[in-house]
Amino acid sequence: MRLSWSLGTGNYAMDTCVLFLLLLLSSKPVSATFSCYFPAVFNFGDSNSDTGGLAAAFGQFSSPNGETFFHRPAGRVSDGRLLIDFMVQSLGLPYLSAFLDALGSNFTHGANFATGGSTIRPQNTTRHQSGLSPISLNVQSYQFNDFVVRTQIIRKVEGLFKELVPKPEAFTHGLYTFDIGQNDLTGGLFQNLTVDQVKASIPNILGQFETVVKDVYDKGGRFFWIHNTGPIGCLPFVLEHLPIDERQMDTNGCANPFNELARFFNDKLKDLVNQLREQLPKAVITYVDIYKARYTLISQAHTQGFEHPLRVCCGYGQKYNYNIHVGCGGKVVSKNGKEIFVGSCKDPSVRIMWDGIHYTEAANKWVFNRIVNGSYSDPPVSLLMACHRQ
Ligand SMILES: *[C@@H]1O[C@H](CO)[C@@H](O)[C@H](O)[C@H]1NC(C)=O
Ligand SMILES: *[C@@H]1O[C@H](CO)[C@@H](O)[C@H](O)[C@H]1NC(C)=O
Ligand SMILES: *[C@@H]1O[C@H](CO)[C@@H](O)[C@H](O)[C@H]1NC(C)=O
Ligand SMILES: *[C@@H]1O[C@H](CO)[C@@H](O)[C@H](O)[C@H]1NC(C)=O
Repeated sequence: MRLSWSLGTGNYAMDTCVLFLLLLLSSKPVSATFSCYFPAVFNFGDSNSDTGGLAAAFGQFSSPNGETFFHRPAGRVSDGRLLIDFMVQSLGLPYLSAFLDALGSNFTHGANFATGGSTIRPQNTTRHQSGLSPISLNVQSYQFNDFVVRTQIIRKVEGLFKELVPKPEAFTHGLYTFDIGQNDLTGGLFQNLTVDQVKASIPNILGQFETVVKDVYDKGGRFFWIHNTGPIGCLPFVLEHLPIDERQMDTNGCANPFNELARFFNDKLKDLVNQLREQLPKAVITYVDIYKARYTLISQAHTQGFEHPLRVCCGYGQKYNYNIHVGCGGKVVSKNGKEIFVGSCKDPSVRIMWDGIHYTEAANKWVFNRIVNGSYSDPPVSLLMACHRQ
C-alpha cells in the first residue's frame, strides 16, 4: 500500500493523528510517501533571493521596486515576490526576514542570509568598485553559525525575543536553500577576465561552496535545496556591457559564450552535489535546474504570455531599455533639460526582465510553478517531498 499524502500546513498535528489511525488500522506494512514538514527555511544567496539583507545594510531600494505585490520597496530587486517568497509561501511559512534586518524581523520560521551582489568567494573589491556585496557566502555562513548559537541562548530567556527565534528542531528539520554563484561568474567577466579564466576559477569557487554546505550539515542541517545559476548570457546588463560578436548570439538573442559559462558552472555544481550525496550520508539534496527553467521561459516567452523577453521593464534607453548609469527608480535629464523618472513599464505582469539583472514577479512565479513539482530537479522530487531520500 502506497499512500500519497498532502498535509495542510496548519493541520499538521491533526493530519498526523489521522495518519497514525490509518497506520493502526492497516494490517500490512505501509510504505508511505508523506509531504515533508519543514518548520523553517534558511536561505543563502544573492539578489535572486535577498528579501531585505542588502537593503538593511546599504539602504532601501527605490520605487518602483516592490510595486506589484508589496506596494512599496520591500528589500527585493523586483516589482514583487522572488522565487524564495513563492517557495516559503507554498510551504505554509511566512516570508523570510533578512538576518541583517533589525526592524520587525521574526525568525521563528527561518532566516535569510542572502544579500544582493553576494558571491561565493570573498571579493577583493569594495561594493563601490564592483557592485559586489562584502557579504559573501563565507560571511553568510559565519552569520548562520552565530544565529544557531545565539537564538538558542535567547530561547532560554523569558520575554519577547524568545518568540522571535526558531526552536532547536527547526535547524534539523528545516530546509536549507542556496541560490548563489551568478555573481562569481559575472563579477569575473566584469573584471575583464576571459571566459576561460573564469572557468579556471570555478573549482576554487565550488570548493568554498562545498565547505559551507558541509558546515551546515555539521550543525545538523539535513535537507538541502540547491539552485543552479541562470542564463547570464541573456541578462541585458551582460549583453550591454560585454559586447560579443553577432555570430555568438543564439536565436533568442542571448550570448552563447556566457550561457555556456553558466552551464559549465552548473555541470560542476551538479558533480559536487553528487559527491556531497556520498560524503554526507544523512543529507537529502535536491539540485534544481534554474537555468533550464529561465531559459525555457525566455525562449517560449510568447507562447507563455510574455512580451519582449529581453527588454527591461524598469530601465531607460539603449537597445534593451537598460543603462548601467541610470538604474530603475533613478532620474535622467533629457536632451531638452526635462527630468525623467526611470519607472516601470506599463504591464510588468507580461514582462520577464525587471531591471536588467533581475526578473519580474511574473517571471519568478512562472519559474516557481515549473520547479515546485520537481520537473526541473535532480532527483525529480517536488518541494513538498524534498525531505525524502530517493
Ligand atoms: C512571529 O512569528 C510567529 C510565527 O508566524 C508568530 O506566532 C509570532 O506571533 C510572531 N511574533 C511576533 C512578535 O510577531
Ligand atoms: C583575492 O585575492 C587573493 C590573494 O591574492 C586571491 O587568492 C583570491 O583569489 C582573490 N579573490 C578573488 C575573488 O579574485
Ligand atoms: C576592463 O576593460 C575596460 C576596457 O579596456 C576598462 O575600461 C576597465 O577599466 C577594465 N576594468 C577592470 C576592472 O580592469
Ligand atoms: C509540473 O508543472 C508544470 C507547470 O505547471 C507542468 O507543465 C508539468 O507537466 C508538471 N510536471 C510534473 C512532472 O508534474
